[in-house]
Amino acid sequence: MISLNVNGKMYQVDVDPDVPLLWVIRDHLRLMGTKFGCGRGVCGTCTVHVDGRAERSCQVRAGEVQGKQITTIEGLPENHPLRRAWVEEQVPQCGYCQPGQIMQAAELLRLHPNPTGEQIQSAMKDNLCRCGTYPRIIKAIQKASKGVKTS
Ligand code: FES
Ligand code: FES
Repeated sequence: MISLNVNGKMYQVDVDPDVPLLWVIRDHLRLMGTKFGCGRGVCGTCTVHVDGRAERSCQVRAGEVQGKQITTIEGLPENHPLRRAWVEEQVPQCGYCQPGQIMQAAELLRLHPNPTGEQIQSAMKDNLCRCGTYPRIIKAIQKASKGVKTS
């Protein structure tokens, strides 16, 4: 049995501590916003936050993150500027990669509230999108950065 704090709520989950966090989030907690892509840490589709840092949940063992704060796309505040910007820029195409993109972008804006183009490229380069929505992702991050409070 492990205890996990996900989106501010405590869960007791009867699971092997070596099971990837992604499996626990989806199959046990039924939080389906976080997606399975490659399962090997290379696509970014499964990105969540662990203590505020963007992590590939397919590569994190559930037992490792006991006592840490896990945030999935469902836990991103409703009024987060990225949510608004994503809608205004109509970023998604099929949508599959987008929760991971947004969680990655949220970490970027936390670290760099007004990111340069280079910082955006560098932060987002390992989040893949088969639909090629990259230009709209960049525009949405730029737009959201104008709505992020720096203090
Ligand atoms: S599913 Fe985790 S990085 Fe691709
Ligand atoms: S929107 Fe389809 S994979 Fe990114």
